[in-house]
Amino acid sequence: MLARIMGTGMAIPKLRVTNDDLAKIMDTSDEWITERTGVKARHLAVEEGTSSLAIEACKKALDNAGMDAHELDLIIAATVTPDHLLPFLSGEVQAGLDAMQAAAFDMVVGCSGYLYAISVANAYVKSGMYRNILIFGAETLSRIMNWEDRSSCILFGDGAGATVIKASEEGVICSVLGTDGKAGPALGCEARPLQNPYVHNEWDYPYVKMAGQEVYKFAVRTVPRSINEVLDKAGISADEIKYFVIHQANLRMIEAIAKRLGQSMDKFPACIQETGNVSAASIPMVLDKINREGKLERGDKLVFAGFGAGLTWGASVLTW
Ligand code: ACO
Repeated sequence: MLARIMGTGMAIPKLRVTNDDLAKIMDTSDEWITERTGVKARHLAVEEGTSSLAIEACKKALDNAGMDAHELDLIIAATVTPDHLLPFLSGEVQAGLDAMQAAAFDMVVGCSGYLYAISVANAYVKSGMYRNILIFGAETLSRIMNWEDRSSCILFGDGAGATVIKASEEGVICSVLGTDGKAGPALGCEARPLQNPYVHNEWDYPYVKMAGQEVYKFAVRTVPRSINEVLDKAGISADEIKYFVIHQANLRMIEAIAKRLGQSMDKFPACIQETGNVSAASIPMVLDKINREGKLERGDKLVFAGFGAGLTWGASVLTW
């Protein structure tokens, strides 16, 4: 059996912040941001938290799948910005959904989190250990952005995207995953420093630090390569793929990836214009967009692919 997506959902905070809004509080412009990234607006959490956004997205995904939370036997969260270190996010969501017979755990793989999570879900389904799995990415990245660093904070937004998976004859055909820990410092965020009776460290709030151009080059090189690799493994050509659902990091990057694959941009749906980069939530968010627009038909072949902190990357080919 394979992991098949039965339903999708997403949630974003109420507060919508346009590029012009940002230009009022920092030295930037709508023109610069749009030209370099394609982002026009992002939603930032003020009243919401990672768990409330996740619960909303997951309820919508369950509803879309026509499934009850009690049927779930596993919940996997992908996040780098949970509301608490403990209890972890997937446990909070399990309680919020009242999915009390599901096991739950979090995965911390940056923007590649959803890609790693779906490959893990597929492995569980293939092994026969679990059949009904909820996977979601949820982030409030705004809490770890340096709002004084205009080259990074303008890119990101908050939100959640969820998918409900069921064991089925068709579903995820195969996946490839990769990590280059040596390149990790290109995109980092400090944790709390050591603090105990024997060591004292001053500390400030941790913020994301990103070498933007390095990450850009890495992504444009790695994502097409991993897509070609997963397609080869599946024995499917790029022309047979209806949509390439790519991590929404930068629209220019998605255009460069489409060009390298020799595929039309019409096959690369996007939500980044309205959401910014929402890390692990971005792939299920775009998927939900096209699902609700009625653009998916059972039997369609899709590719999910992306990259992120670690540095990491991943791609899956699947039957919708
Ligand atoms: N508004 C106006 N000017 C700006 C801004 C801004 N928001 N940010 C930077 N600038 C200026 C810089 O000061 C610099 O000016 P200078 O030439 O006078 O020194 C100039 O614009 C160019 O700055 P760079 O930082 O070199 O800009 P770059 O062309 O690299 O674009 C960007 C920056 C958009 C971040 C790009 O590097 C990028 O998209 N990289 C990929 C980042 C990414 O995808 N990260 C997430 C991946 S992983 C994940 O999703 C967690």
